[in-house]
Order: sequence, then C-alpha cells, then structure tokens
Amino acid sequence: MKAVVVHQAGDSSVLKVTQIAKPQVKSGWSLVKIMGFGINRSEIFTRQGLSPSVTFPRILGIECVGVIEETTDEQRLSVGQKIISIMGEMGRDFDGSYAEYVLLPNEQIYPVSTTLDWKTLATIPETYYTAFGAYQNLKITSHDRILVRGGASGVGTAFVKLVKAKFSDVKVYASVRNTAKKAQLLDAGYDDLVSDDNGVLKTDVTFTKILELVGPATIKDSLGHLQEDGMICSCGQLGRKWYLEEFDPIMELKNNVYLTTFYSGNVSQKKIQKMLTYIEQEQVDVRPERVFDLETIQKAHDYLESDVAFGKVIVLN
Ligand SMILES: NC(=O)c1ccc[n+]([C@@H]2O[C@H](COP(=O)([O-])OP(=O)(O)OC[C@H]3O[C@@H](n4cnc5c(N)ncnc54)[C@H](OP(=O)(O)O)[C@@H]3O)[C@@H](O)[C@H]2O)c1
Repeated sequence: MKAVVVHQAGDSSVLKVTQIAKPQVKSGWSLVKIMGFGINRSEIFTRQGLSPSVTFPRILGIECVGVIEETTDEQRLSVGQKIISIMGEMGRDFDGSYAEYVLLPNEQIYPVSTTLDWKTLATIPETYYTAFGAYQNLKITSHDRILVRGGASGVGTAFVKLVKAKFSDVKVYASVRNTAKKAQLLDAGYDDLVSDDNGVLKTDVTFTKILELVGPATIKDSLGHLQEDGMICSCGQLGRKWYLEEFDPIMELKNNVYLTTFYSGNVSQKKIQKMLTYIEQEQVDVRPERVFDLETIQKAHDYLESDVAFGKVIVLN
C-alpha cells in the first residue's frame, strides 16, 4: 500500500510517500480502508519533533473515515461498514491514517450510518466533533448572542456553521487578531468581527455564550463580556497558555455565570452518530477549504502552516 512515512523530524519534505506492506490484522484490531482524513495542526507539531512521546519512523494521522476491510470484531463491525476513527494513539503510539489502509484497535473504530459523501465526511471528524461538543455543552438557543474567541480557527468556523444551520437569526461574532480574513469569516457564517488586541477585546458588546478557543490566556477578559447567567466553554489553547493562575472562582464567576469545556478524547459512537445526524438533518454547510491526495501531502502541510491557511484541509484517497 501507499503510505506517508516520516523517518525523522523536520519540515514538510520529511513526509515521504512510500510503498509498504499492508498491515496484518491481529487480535483486537481491524483493518480499515481509508477514504479520507483531515490534517490537524497537532500532526505538524509531531512532524516537527515537538511530540516527545512519538518515535520515528511513524505514519502520522490522528483521524480517518473509511470502510472496514478486515475485522476481528464481527459482532460490531462488518466488512464494508462505514466508520470514523479519532484520537486514541493513532499516528502517535502506532501508525496512523496518512496511508491507504490503517490497522486500528477495535474500540476506537466507530461505525456510522450516514449518506454524506466522503469529501464531506472527511472534513468532519476531530474538528466538528470538538465544535459539536462545545455547541451542546453551551446549550445554544435561539435567544443567544455568541462570541467565538479565536474565530478564525477550524473549530471556530465549524462551530459557527453548526449554530447557523439551526439558528440562522442568532448573532455570532468572531474575535480576531487582525481583519485580513474578514471576507472568509463572514462567508463562513459570522455576523461580525471583534478585534482582540493582545488579549483585550475591543468592544462593549456582551454575550450570552462564549466559545473560548484562545483559552486560559484570555478567559478572564472574556468573562468581562459575559452577561448574567451566561456560559463560557473553554476548550482551546490558541493563546499557548494551558493553566489558569490566580483564578478566584467566586469573584470571576460572581455574575452567576457558568464555566464548562469539551474534550474530544471523550468520544463515543453515540456522540459521533448524534453529530452526523444533526449535520444531515440541519444541512450544515460542511466543506473543506482545500483537498489534497497522498502524493501532495507535503503541499497540504505547507498550506496549513502558511499565513493564508483557513478552514479545514483534507486528503482524499
Ligand atoms: N478540547 C479539545 O479536545 C480540542 C480538540 C481540538 C482542538 N482543540 C483546540 O482548539 C483550538 C483550535 O483548534 P483548531 O485546530 O481549530 O485551530 P487552527 O485551525 O489551527 O486555528 C488557527 C487559527 O487560530 C487563530 N489564532 C491563533 N492564535 C490566536 C489568538 N491568540 N487569538 C485569536 N486567534 C488566534 C489564527 O488565525 P489568525 O492568524 O487569522 O489570527 C489561526 O489561523 C486549539 O487550541 C486546539 O488545541 C481542542
């Protein structure tokens, strides 16, 4: 089979398309024929050698959509069954999805029932799963006014599409560090932009719900823009700060507001199916920004690392 093998850390040129043997099925694992997958920033970090637990050679890729080719779990999985897989140690502890086939532990293979085409399905896994989890935890209603802090991110743009598909009248604002991507952000569904000046929102507007993707670096500032009884879901760390310091819950949340999160490692077949059903029923505008194939995967990484990157980048086999 064709696979992209990384032998040592480096720039995108270390992503080598190679012919290798198809993995052999072993007890507790099944073989998946990969139809497509999204490229994630975490794979760029791993490729650069910034994931200390990952050793090379390794096939990267933390998610995929495809069909069962061979299985050791005939009760739950059948040959030809459509599946999604995300998270676990795929592409980290064991070889991942940058290939034509991947061998996966049965417990992280989620059968799905959907009529979505492969291009749409490949755009969904990790990014939409996170956005949908946040959407649910924020208990969005038609009465909300929402801010997405870190609005230009993949999770942010997926979130606004999920909201707008059901609640087209709800106003959703994107916080941005610069307005260079304004046209793309409005096209994604945002109503307006709010300028984020070094962690300070430049607006007097207040919100009922905030999706905090910049994370601990800006939560306190975001809380200052949350209305009484409002809710904030902090599930990103774009601000590159992982922990809250000097956070007095009583004083910071004194306005009767609620702080929640969503963790995409908290994954189940039921939740994945619920998301897919929502996307189909509400006709969510899921589309990739760029589509590549295995042969052009270096270009896919280069694009995602560039200043013009926007939205979801996928590979189709
Ligand atoms: N909770 C979970 O389980 C989970 C799952 C998936 C992802 N995440 C997290 O969610 C966040 C978003 O992930 P993603 O993959 O969607 O990111 P992404 O698409 O890589 O987002 C990158 C974009 O975010 C914007 N950005 C970066 N730093 C910013 C800042 N300080 N303030 C405002 N905007 C900023 C940048 O746009 P501009 O350059 O145009 O400003 C950049 O293009 C990440 O922190 C990721 O780790 C969490």
